[in-house]
Amino acid sequence: MTITYKDEAGIAGMRVACRLASEVLDFLTPHIQPGVTTREIDRLACECMKTQGSISATLGYQPPGYPPYPASLCTSVNHVVCHGIPGDKALKKGDIVNVDVTVIKDGWYGDTSRMFIVGEASIAAKRLCAMTFEAMWHGIEQVRPGAHLGDIGWAIQKFAESHGFSVVREFCGHGIGQVFHEEPQVLHYGKPGTGEELKPGMTFTIEPMINAGRREVRELGDGWTIVTKDHSLSAQWEHTVLVTPTGYEVLTLSAGSPPPPASVKAAEALA
Ligand code: MF3
Ligand code: CO
Ligand code: CO
Repeated sequence: MTITYKDEAGIAGMRVACRLASEVLDFLTPHIQPGVTTREIDRLACECMKTQGSISATLGYQPPGYPPYPASLCTSVNHVVCHGIPGDKALKKGDIVNVDVTVIKDGWYGDTSRMFIVGEASIAAKRLCAMTFEAMWHGIEQVRPGAHLGDIGWAIQKFAESHGFSVVREFCGHGIGQVFHEEPQVLHYGKPGTGEELKPGMTFTIEPMINAGRREVRELGDGWTIVTKDHSLSAQWEHTVLVTPTGYEVLTLSAGSPPPPASVKAAEALA
C-alpha cells in the first residue's frame, strides 16, 4: 500500500463525494433532538443518501478482524469515543453525540463528522466539543506542501493537552480516495518535522478524538463500539482535506458546516 496522489479528475470526484457527506450532516441536523433514537438518525441518513445517489461506505464495512459494520453511519454518544452503532436508545437533553458519515459517489469516498449537543448540555460538555473542533482546525492549519504529518499531530496534541484534555492514540485519520482507509495514517499526536512529507494531491482525514479524562479506551463486546475506560466524555470532529500547491482545501464543507474558528479566519485573511 502506498499513498495515492489525486489528479484533477480525482480531486473533482473527491470534491463531490466530500460535499455530499457534509450535506448528509446538514440534513440530519434539525432531527438531532431529545427523544430521537440513533436508529432513526441512521434511517434518515439512508434516505438522504438515496436522494443524493450516494451510498454509505460503512454499511457492511468489514476490515480484517472486525464483524461487518451494521449501519449507514456512526453515532457516538457521551463516553463513546467512536464507531457507536445506531440503536433504539433515544437521545436525551444534555447528551453530546458525534455523527460520522462516509459516502461513496462515483467510486470516491467523502468522510466527515460533527458533534451535536442535544438540547442544552453542561458547560463542561460544550467546552469539550468546542475545544475538539478547534483542535481539528489547528491540525488542518498545518497542511501545506513541505509540512510533515507530525506537524498536524503536534498541533492537535499541544492544544488539547494544554487545555487539560487527552488525545486518543488507538485511532487516527487516514488517507482516503477510491479506498475508504488508505495510507497514510494521520496521528493526532506527534512531533513537529517527523513523519511523511505532505505533497499536493494527497487527500486525508483529520479526525481527533479528545477525552475530558484519561486517554485510554476500551472496545465493547459488539466488536465496534469504543468507549473511554474511565467513562469520561469524549468528542470528535472530522474533515477530509486536500493538500494544494499552496496549502489546504477542506473538501467536506457544505452550507451547514460550522465556520472555522476566528483564529483560522484571521490567518486565512492574511494569506
Ligand atoms: N468514518 C469512520 C472514520 O472516520 C470509520 C467508521 S468505520 C465503521 O474513519 F465501520 F465503524 F463505520
Ligand atoms: Co469518519
Ligand atoms: Co475517517
